[in-house]
Amino acid sequence: MADGRLKPNDLEAYWMPFTANRQFKSAPRMLVGAKDMHYTSDDGRQILDGTAGLWCCNAGHGRPQIVEAIQKQAAEMDYAPPFQMGHPAAFELANRLTEIMPGDLNHVFFTNSGSESVDTALKIALAYHKARGEGSRVKFIGRDKGYHGVGFGGISVGGLGNNRKQFGNQLPAVDHLPFFYNREIMGFTKGQSEMGAESADALESLVTLHDASTIAAVIVEPMVGSAGVFIPPKGYLDRLRKICDKHGILLIFDEVISGFGRLGSAFAVDKFNVVPDLVTAAKGLNSGTVPMGAVFARDGIYDTLVNGAPEGTIELFHGYTYSAHPLACAAALAAQKLYQDEGLFVRAAELESYWENAAHALNGAPHVIDIRNIGLVAGVELESRPGKIGARAFDVFLKAFEKGLLIRTTADTIALSPPLIISKDQIDQIFATLAEILLMTD
Ligand SMILES: Cc1ncc(COP(=O)(O)O)c(C=O)c1O
Repeated sequence: MADGRLKPNDLEAYWMPFTANRQFKSAPRMLVGAKDMHYTSDDGRQILDGTAGLWCCNAGHGRPQIVEAIQKQAAEMDYAPPFQMGHPAAFELANRLTEIMPGDLNHVFFTNSGSESVDTALKIALAYHKARGEGSRVKFIGRDKGYHGVGFGGISVGGLGNNRKQFGNQLPAVDHLPFFYNREIMGFTKGQSEMGAESADALESLVTLHDASTIAAVIVEPMVGSAGVFIPPKGYLDRLRKICDKHGILLIFDEVISGFGRLGSAFAVDKFNVVPDLVTAAKGLNSGTVPMGAVFARDGIYDTLVNGAPEGTIELFHGYTYSAHPLACAAALAAQKLYQDEGLFVRAAELESYWENAAHALNGAPHVIDIRNIGLVAGVELESRPGKIGARAFDVFLKAFEKGLLIRTTADTIALSPPLIISKDQIDQIFATLAEILLMTD
């Protein structure tokens, strides 16, 4: 404050991200604690976490193994510079993570967020082609409705108008695939649709338009999260892979949401059995406890860039002060161990059909026009109020919070993605609460 006094209850100074600041500050919703499946609100209520925080706390909250690992690391060594220096936990984590990656995705570059992972992957793709003497490959293909974070690279390849329109200046050489989803045909499908894979063939048209020699990479979320939970049709990702292979284009899967068990497998790569060239990750990497992201690269990319460069040179002029931060690494090692010891990815797979049936039981509830699901993710789409997109779902969000349930909404879709430790009773609680709220929502 200008007069130097602290005003702890003044909400003005903090400019909140992706938030209607004035609306929030007139009626704040504050969380002050978290344990296992629940948050505690500042008025002392238990709030069931239907969203794993923001798609990230896959092991649940306040898990002692992770908390203690962070505490121990903070006491032992708080920080180590990542440029031209190393610390053991970073290498241990890299080994541990690449062990669970399929194919030859054997190398990992650490970042601090999903957005940084996306920008890193795009830069690696450009550098790779340049190192191979194909410096003309500078264009990226994203997809309509894609969300790839908020860096300039991410919003350029992303396909969400709201995230771009305030910021006129994006990467110049980007085009987008059409969205694959058609509600008329695919609405209320459980899991993957049998129809719609052919929409991947639009990539051939874009390649013809731009010429393969100009295209560096295609980037997609294997499962569309932030735009409202959309599941790729069967065969769609395979087709993208084949077209990319045919034209020497790299395929990047943005697994910031789908990584670390969310779909009932370590990565969507396993679930859909398609191996891309680069995989971006963050969120569940350390169960959302310390900011951290990662980019996985296949052998060929690492070999070209790292082993192909002259000895003693820095091979990639890229990195962050907090890449492989010791606290983030310690948290990630503990989270990965917890995932394995408790079999949480398998648990998510085992709960998938129970979750699916519970979600689809909302079919027929007031305003519900579509339900989509995979792994431990569901999207329940409501009909929008005329001229007020998002208002109805936000109303449901507010009522859910009052009733002790945290959900997430995007436009008029309710997105659900609980921690992987959720019980069947808690799954029932989520959908029973929503059914009750929908009955009392206009
Ligand atoms: C697919 C995807 N990519 C990138 C991001 C950006 O991650 P972050 O918010 O950590 O920068 C997100 C965040 O939700 C995401 O869902």
